[in-house]
Amino acid sequence: MSSICGRVVGEFTAKNGARVVVRYVRWEDICDYYELWKSLARDKEVVKYLGVVEEIDFSTCVDRFSRIVASVEKGKEIRLVAEVDGKVVGYVSIKIEGGSFRHRGWLGIIIRREYRDLGIGTRLLEAVVREAKRMGLKLILLETSSLNSRAIHVFRKVGFREIGVVPGGLCIDNRCVDTLFMVLRLDFSEL
Ligand SMILES: CC(C)(COP(=O)(O)OP(=O)(O)OC[C@H]1O[C@@H](n2cnc3c(N)ncnc32)[C@H](O)[C@@H]1OP(=O)(O)O)[C@@H](O)C(=O)NCCC(=O)NCCS
Repeated sequence: MSSICGRVVGEFTAKNGARVVVRYVRWEDICDYYELWKSLARDKEVVKYLGVVEEIDFSTCVDRFSRIVASVEKGKEIRLVAEVDGKVVGYVSIKIEGGSFRHRGWLGIIIRREYRDLGIGTRLLEAVVREAKRMGLKLILLETSSLNSRAIHVFRKVGFREIGVVPGGLCIDNRCVDTLFMVLRLDFSEL
């Protein structure tokens, strides 16, 4: 069977006119992944909404990225990238659980700061939902800061609904805010 890594699943034009390719992650994305990870520590929005991002060296990054690519190959994770002019500008992932929970997965998404608000996050989410359906998932879950109004807006737009609040679920420098659990149900027939 051919590798899923690198497989193109969509293409569209962003609000600034840039052509965006949506595809599965591949090993060659390692340098873009490292660059994005390093930029997150300086990204005030990310620190505010996702918490402090630890700095990692390149060998730790290689180790993590190898595990990501292996998980994607084994069907344990869906990870798509948005590529503009040959550079990865965003990621979305669904980590699929195991055993009696293998019908569900946890979603994460990040778009590089300079590419936000161009419609890329919405299109990446739509693409990952299509892939999750193709793989037979029934539930996609996520947790986000209740202050992250843009992310919440985009998640609602693609069909996620709030299912609960964790009071003080995220604490940064001893300041705690609520987090929201959201869910997207993909298949109602057996639920
Ligand atoms: C959240 C995120 C993934 C969204 O991706 P994006 O590419 O910026 O989103 P899009 O451009 O597709 O859509 C943005 C939408 O939010 C709206 N928006 C922008 N700022 C907003 C705000 N402060 N409050 C509510 N809505 C807002 C825009 O108007 C647009 O809505 P529309 O398409 O209905 O007009 C991206 O901004 C990001 O990576 N943020 C930092 C990391 C993060 O928060 N990740 C999610 C953690 S759970």
